[in-house]
Amino acid sequence: MVVPADRALQEAIQVAPLIFSDDVRRQKIENRLEQMRFSAATVRRIQNVFKSEMEKGIHQKISSLQMENTYIPELPNGTEEGLFLALDLGGTNFRVILLELVNGVAVREDVKKYHIDSEFRMGSGIPLFDYLAECVSDFVINEGLQDVELPLGFTFSFPMIQHSLDVGILATWTKSFNCPDIVGKDVVQLLRDALDRRGDTRVNVLAILNDTTGTLVQGATQDSNTVIGLILGTGSNACYMERADKVEHWEVERHGEREVIIDIEWGAFGDNGVLDFIKTDFDRESDANSLMVNSFTFEKYISGKYLGEVVRVILAKLTKEGLIFVNHSPGGLLTTGNLTTDLVSHIEQDSVDGDYNSTREVLAKFGIIPDDDDLSAVQYVCEVASNRAALLVSACLSMLLERIDKEEVTIAVDGSLYKHHPRLEGWMNQYISLLAPGRKFKLMNVEDGSGKGAALVAAIAQRLKKRFI
Ligand code: BGC
Repeated sequence: MVVPADRALQEAIQVAPLIFSDDVRRQKIENRLEQMRFSAATVRRIQNVFKSEMEKGIHQKISSLQMENTYIPELPNGTEEGLFLALDLGGTNFRVILLELVNGVAVREDVKKYHIDSEFRMGSGIPLFDYLAECVSDFVINEGLQDVELPLGFTFSFPMIQHSLDVGILATWTKSFNCPDIVGKDVVQLLRDALDRRGDTRVNVLAILNDTTGTLVQGATQDSNTVIGLILGTGSNACYMERADKVEHWEVERHGEREVIIDIEWGAFGDNGVLDFIKTDFDRESDANSLMVNSFTFEKYISGKYLGEVVRVILAKLTKEGLIFVNHSPGGLLTTGNLTTDLVSHIEQDSVDGDYNSTREVLAKFGIIPDDDDLSAVQYVCEVASNRAALLVSACLSMLLERIDKEEVTIAVDGSLYKHHPRLEGWMNQYISLLAPGRKFKLMNVEDGSGKGAALVAAIAQRLKKRFI
């Protein structure tokens, strides 16, 4: 039974019906995918669970949400000046960035990307940090700045337990990294030690931050209502400005801070089982194929590293059950890891354009000449999985808007999935409006929070140091 207030929501979360020549198979596919579809009541339940996990996390009770204090108590105020280095570690490319800030605005930005081979990403942590230090030296020396003291902000996009603005204990690896021997270590210290071992630059690590934090901080320079930072990319996470008096985990001396940025680490939402009511056999299999099984439940439902795999698992099951690709072999499409999320985004373009051109293009890459039913089913599966991701993210954001309780909130967003998926933004706008009625919000695209945002955070750290020492 749908309660009257949820009727609009129930209607809005419908996806287009599957068009199929054979009614029996159509019905079977729809039934098979039913578990991926939420009722309005399920969405309400997700909202409530998220709300309660946030509350527990902030009060240091057992929760799958870390609600980590970032120790960043203020946003840029337009006085940030000087040369700063920013490091961005989170994906297969490590970026070193030099920024010159004038009145809080980046007037110069030099960037170099360094590829991180899998042997560094999945080996011991010390060689990884030695490599990072080597990249920093290479960059700084090339800029001719080896003798200049450079304040640095380190964007480290993994869960950390922060003891202060420049102490971050690695809680767990995610995405494509797994160097187990440094879990539990302070990554700032590891970086400082690696830079000291080289001794060829004068870099001063002032702050460690998460990419969501960098995005929020950078967003705040563009729109003063920005109080949420969101990443929907390879991984996913959000952070927000919390009232300081609500934050219990605070290890350094307080100085009358009114607010502080909290890193939610929502990728792990549900790791304690609270979201098991939405887990499907497709999710179980996608998790089993992942680098770190049984962790990052929520991230595996929504983010770019996993969405393609969820779609692939569904397609593989439907094929095995004789429901699709009856006349043509799906070839390499069904090999683990082969259907990447950018291809899902590409296929979703067809739902916007109302044709099958992109779907055909993607299938052709795998040597498949599909019939109309296959085209339609592949598109349908991409839509259902993408729509579920949009709903999940929107359910959490709606609760965050309630928690923040400000008249107007701008959500600074970055990440490849958000940028390249043709429908996420539209769905999110629609769903958040329905799930947080009366709340004024805006989704704002922000570029390079991990770079510019990190430099701004380093400048804020400098300012706080001067003020309190
Ligand atoms: C990490 C977060 C990060 C997010 C987006 C997740 O896997 O745990 O710290 O913010 O990815 O990059």
